[in-house]
Amino acid sequence: MERVGVVGCGQMGAGIAEVCARAGLDVVVVESGEARVEAGRRRLEASLKRAEDKGKIPDAAEVLRRLRVTESLDELADRTLVIEAIVEDESVKAELFGRLDKIVSAPDAILASNTSSIPIMKLGTATGRPAQVLGIHFFNPVPVLSLVELVPSLLTSGQTLDRARVFVHDVLGKHAIRCQDRAGFVVNALLIPFILAAIRMLESGFATREDIDEGLVRGAAHPQGPLALADLIGLDTTKAVAESLYDEFKEPLYAPPPLLARMVDAGLLGRKSGRGFYTYA
Ligand code: NAI
Repeated sequence: MERVGVVGCGQMGAGIAEVCARAGLDVVVVESGEARVEAGRRRLEASLKRAEDKGKIPDAAEVLRRLRVTESLDELADRTLVIEAIVEDESVKAELFGRLDKIVSAPDAILASNTSSIPIMKLGTATGRPAQVLGIHFFNPVPVLSLVELVPSLLTSGQTLDRARVFVHDVLGKHAIRCQDRAGFVVNALLIPFILAAIRMLESGFATREDIDEGLVRGAAHPQGPLALADLIGLDTTKAVAESLYDEFKEPLYAPPPLLARMVDAGLLGRKSGRGFYTYA
């Protein structure tokens, strides 16, 4: 599994590419548009420099040499594993999987998605090789959090799942849990309703953002409160995951509250846009 491709070089794609390169793998990352390719490159360089400064890796330049960011999906042709980490939109992802199926030439290559909530079956059936499609769902920030959810669809082969488990555990040194192909898998099915409840609490004037977050940090030993966490995930991604959960289960607790929708409409996406529930420098 030594030739990895990653599609999308946003917060997750860059993190996934970084941990793969740090594990010694050769990585090609595909972004759309020249400016975003450049931004992706800078994101990788900055993160690796931080890791070097903190003594976590001996030589950032050596890791960077294993990473190539490009605009061309065709450069994924020789990859043995491709992990998709683009926008959380089912039709955009399905279209990409159809294209990857034509481009990635190794007959046993695995096509994986980092989706938080979109059924893996929909992505598998967009290809001619659903037995080799599964969810490999990382957590943010990828270099820091050790969990990965492995999500086989009904059509994913046991061999694909086993290979993915070896990749995650033996190659990346992360901990894998296995989940059913249901929106939200394990972690987001529990986490997103909790974040939405905090947003409803804020929206109703029940408590301030600081008191909500401090309550969970000091009262439940969470490392950060739910509103700060939503800012870290990205409010667009939080809303998209909530919508997928709501579509799947039709439970009101998964419905995105109006405040979340209006903030996304306004471009207040959290850390990545500089402002969400909090403002970032
Ligand atoms: P992001 O918005 O930071 O990055 C997405 C990137 O994909 C952008 O840079 C965009 O230019 C690029 N992109 C979009 N369409 C593309 C295409 N056709 N080809 C190449 N690049 C394309 O989003 P983020 O947070 O990295 O999320 C990506 C995926 O990871 C989503 O499916 C999300 O649900 C999932 N995820 C997000 C987590 C989070 O905490 N943000 C945690 C775990 C999974």
